[in-house]
Amino acid sequence: MQAASAFLLHNEKLNVMISILKPKGVIMNFKDLATDRYSVRKFTDNPLKKEVIDKILEAGHIAPTGCNYQPQRILVINNEETLTKLRDCTRCHFDAPCAMLICYNKDECWTRPYDGNQSGIVDASIVTTHMMLQAWELGVGSTWVMHFNPFKMREEFEIPENIEPVALLVMGYPAPDAVPNERHSTYRPVEETVSYNKF
Ligand SMILES: Cc1cc2nc3c(=O)[nH]c(=O)nc-3n(C[C@H](O)[C@H](O)[C@H](O)COP(=O)(O)O)c2cc1C
Repeated sequence: MQAASAFLLHNEKLNVMISILKPKGVIMNFKDLATDRYSVRKFTDNPLKKEVIDKILEAGHIAPTGCNYQPQRILVINNEETLTKLRDCTRCHFDAPCAMLICYNKDECWTRPYDGNQSGIVDASIVTTHMMLQAWELGVGSTWVMHFNPFKMREEFEIPENIEPVALLVMGYPAPDAVPNERHSTYRPVEETVSYNKF
């Protein structure tokens, strides 16, 4: 038991060292960036500067959407009043100093004529992915949160009827002892998820 906790402590220290030494902002290729990123659930109190928020939003702004209709609507939550409201909507706020609620406008999505399927959830998800990866490149950690109460969210933030919230991106600078969850590097075998020419 003692050996196990000594190992855990050692491991934790190692992770702290790794995260301090990791040169954020100098990751060059996409594969490294995508592999390195993990869901951060522990943040420092440091707020994100407006220029950092703007860069993250810009990455979402240039994301592809169905027919380029750009139905995404993003709510930036970064003051004491709104962050307090957010804590009533989800337990997955992780005391982050900033969050973005990515929604889509139901009246502005591309709709597939065959079955009426709308592109909104996909569009909002691509926007969220762009922002999550851009944030990481800037040294900003985030977690994509779906586990929020949409009714409470609608009420607290007075979200209009035609605006549908999809993803909440809680974000901030990773705490020195933030570490990836074990799920981060647990992958199904590729063969289980990819088929060629036939299912
Ligand atoms: C659609 C979606 C919904 C998610 N919802 C939550 C959530 O509500 N709470 C949470 O802590 N993490 C949430 N996550 C984060 C995942 O648990 C995480 O991405 C996954 O375990 C892989 O770990 P990694 O991001 O560290 O690589 C969500 C991720 C996605 C893509």
